[in-house]
Amino acid sequence: MAGRIPQQFIDDLVARTDIVELIENYLPLRKAGKEFQALCPFHGEKTPSFTVSREKQFYHCFGCGVHGTAIGFLMAYRNLEFLEAVEELADLAGVQIPRDVSSKNAVNSKQTFEMLGRAEAFYKRQLRTATSKDKAINYLKNRGISGETAKIFGIGYAPEGWRNLIDDLAKNGETEESLEKGGLVIKKQSSGYYDRFRDRIIFPIHDKRGRVLGFGGRVLDQSEPKYLNSPETEVFHKGTELYGLKQAISSGQLESLIVVEGYMDVISLYQFGIKNSVATLGTAVTSAHIDKLFRHSPKIIFCFDGDKAGQRAAWKGLELSLPKIQGDRQVEFCFLPDGHDPDSAVRKFGSDRFFAASQVYGLIDYLIDSLKQNLDLSSGEGRANLLRTIKPFMAKISDTALKAVAARAISDITKFDENIVRQEIGLIATANQQKRVNTIKSYTSRSLQEQAIGLMLAWPSLASHVSEAEIVFIRDNLPDCDILFEVWKKCASENLTTGSLIERFRGVPTEQTLLQIAAVNNHLAEEQASIELKDVFKKLESKGVEQQILSIKNLPLNDLTQEQKQLLRGYKK
Ligand code: UTP
Ligand code: MN
Repeated sequence: MAGRIPQQFIDDLVARTDIVELIENYLPLRKAGKEFQALCPFHGEKTPSFTVSREKQFYHCFGCGVHGTAIGFLMAYRNLEFLEAVEELADLAGVQIPRDVSSKNAVNSKQTFEMLGRAEAFYKRQLRTATSKDKAINYLKNRGISGETAKIFGIGYAPEGWRNLIDDLAKNGETEESLEKGGLVIKKQSSGYYDRFRDRIIFPIHDKRGRVLGFGGRVLDQSEPKYLNSPETEVFHKGTELYGLKQAISSGQLESLIVVEGYMDVISLYQFGIKNSVATLGTAVTSAHIDKLFRHSPKIIFCFDGDKAGQRAAWKGLELSLPKIQGDRQVEFCFLPDGHDPDSAVRKFGSDRFFAASQVYGLIDYLIDSLKQNLDLSSGEGRANLLRTIKPFMAKISDTALKAVAARAISDITKFDENIVRQEIGLIATANQQKRVNTIKSYTSRSLQEQAIGLMLAWPSLASHVSEAEIVFIRDNLPDCDILFEVWKKCASENLTTGSLIERFRGVPTEQTLLQIAAVNNHLAEEQASIELKDVFKKLESKGVEQQILSIKNLPLNDLTQEQKQLLRGYKK
């Protein structure tokens, strides 16, 4: 990347983009009242419930629940990352992206990438030099890795000794300090540095564009630690990167992506023709990993050993995936035969029987199977318990199709009537009913805070009807008003649409909350909404007053200020 994109540019770009024009490039939109509709591209349907609002610059599907802004649509529909979506919008708008190249960080990362590339080349050369040739190449041969595979993954060797890399890269003018920034050396307690990787097989870790981010190094014998990885650096983030993603993408085999644990698993699977696996980097799978995986393939297969650690890893994958299922997305779990990891299993069973030799579960089957381990399903109570324990998991699913599959499966196993199960897990049969429930929900069960946020999200200009004194009073006297305050502040200071308002919160935890609230359909006209907003704020204010009174009610009268006394008297009236 040639530098950071200034936030102001992104704000302006979002403001000048029209979500209707954008989506029209991909879907035939039909005008329906003030909004536009199409068959939802994210789930199969026969009548359109995918709705795009020009006014709000927001889309929402009543069928499967997907929703978002123009940037969000490009990311979801075209599987783009945020910056790629911004580039696309800039292209469409015919504007150049200004890069803040003066930013120190940007220049540094460019140099770091170059240095890491040189380090990769150094390790690869070492694999071919006479001194290490026999030892390292024999190790790879013994593990059944072909020269061709080693080349595809850029495998190398870090020779014995403390300063091989330092000295080699010094020829290019790299300092020890810059090597430390790339995670390549370790600082001595006394002074000076030494090579992090010594006498290890080296696995370079690439991003999907092929830039080197860091390395993993394996010992050639039984010593410990077996693997050493680059530390987190300014360019290497284990929580988002996946080993082998570059190779999987280039292979074009992206009908699914298989998540495994180790470098060697990815490499062996690839050599045996299963070219679509990736590994987390010695960390548990994260939510960001799952987003990344789904950007490249509609199907994730978590493939772990059947042992305790494997089960734990799979469970994490399950919990993180539930909220992300939509459209044609799918998650499966593959547990390998006892004592095998993917590397050994593919060597023993071959790619043809790799999955057949393992136990493969769908998302819901795996969930039910895991939950029922601790329950006695021969008794009514046990079956009722299953229904109860599964409810919080169902609450994480927004995709109605997946919920329907779950309802059927739960009904089969608990023997409860399917309609009862559907009701219990909050599954409503038709899109129309869903619409009604959403509308009702928006005016009854939601908290006042949420109602206020919902109204300002739908009509950002209404924020100007609320004074700063009012909102500050509410924030200071009521709990859970931080988001409300943040939203008010943004709305009051700028002229925003729903979409551009939500874009201001991209990447922060609040974003999800706002998306959820915005997705609840709000059919009010502006006038009506304005009345509603005043009403909601009046209620919030009197709640704030109540809170204040509660906090002073039991204090001795003598300790109260005049104002507080007045407040108490007013309350008693
Ligand atoms: P495993 O111990 O399962 O090793 O670690 P493996 O992948 O089967 O390796 P081989 O076949 O013995 O060569 C799985 C992953 O956990 C991380 C590495 O990313 C490894 O690939 N790991 C393991 C470490 O980071 N450090 C360690 O000491 C061990
Ligand atoms: Mn292994």
